Amino acid sequence: MTLNEIAKKMCAKGKGILAADESTGTIAKRFKSINVENLEKNRLGFRQTLFNASAMKDFIGGVILFDETIKQKTTLGSTIPELISKQGAIPGIKVDKGAKPLAGSNEETITEGLDGLRERLKEYYNLGARFTKWRAVYKIAEKFPSSQSIISNAHALARYAALVQEANMVPIVEPEVLMDGSHNIDKCYTVTTDVLNECYNQLHIHKVDLKGTVLKPNMIVPGSDCKDKSNSEEIAKKTLECLKKNVPSDVPGIAFLSGGQSEIESSKNLNSINRINDSNFLITFSYGRGLQASALSEFGKNQSNIEKIQKAFNHRAKMNGLSSKGEWSEDLEKESVA
Ligand code: 13P
Repeated sequence: MTLNEIAKKMCAKGKGILAADESTGTIAKRFKSINVENLEKNRLGFRQTLFNASAMKDFIGGVILFDETIKQKTTLGSTIPELISKQGAIPGIKVDKGAKPLAGSNEETITEGLDGLRERLKEYYNLGARFTKWRAVYKIAEKFPSSQSIISNAHALARYAALVQEANMVPIVEPEVLMDGSHNIDKCYTVTTDVLNECYNQLHIHKVDLKGTVLKPNMIVPGSDCKDKSNSEEIAKKTLECLKKNVPSDVPGIAFLSGGQSEIESSKNLNSINRINDSNFLITFSYGRGLQASALSEFGKNQSNIEKIQKAFNHRAKMNGLSSKGEWSEDLEKESVA
């Protein structure tokens, strides 16, 4: 498959991406919230339960893994990438090493992980990965994001993407403008515009073939502490407008992060975007919390109740699959739970 074909398969209509690439530190937070000990066997247990779920075949085009997970075997003996491929999805891998304080602007971050990346990419390809992820993080505050953060993170994203294409994999380019703060939706729009423009400027300089990439952006939403709430239609209109203006049309697929929105909000907003999508972009989800929150809660109640954990995951995957086609509704949400 060409990189363009892989990118399109990851974002195919009716499907999206499961972001199961929480680092050991992030999954520790998730497990703490459900009183589960952060042990390797528990991390494997939760993840293989999701990867074995029936919704994988119908609604998941790709799965983003963490370094530990791509090297694990299921209790039945196959490797995790083999299990994912058997379910008809493409295995992928998070390759960044996290967001660290940015020297010169210590309250902001720069994503690290470029040193030795070429060698690590070879290893991941041999383990079955066909796409990768790198997340840059931008916060909104009075003086932030600084141009230093916007330029340095875009530069790192572009160097990452060029190395990934050299290794014959599709880079997911993830510039995440955080929802934290009291800024309004228009501020999110202007910051996201600046961030996307610098990303595509750097991707061009680094000769990245945009046809073999997937963009993973935030939606255009008000800050979580903003008093002016926006409805789903406004979020959809502003998000689509921002993407059409700032993302080159060569990019085949756009897969949103959920970024702290609730499961229902992230389905509803994706659905509203697809209902008015008059662009050529395939627009879908690449959710972590948006796909896993209910399943995680069931796992916390009883780790061995595979059926209940999978039922919760199947439901969210189906709802988001519908949203990727603009066919989700609140009624369907209720029917499926019953
Ligand atoms: P959320 O959907 O929970 O924001 O996670 C997506 C992700 O992969 C962030 O990098």
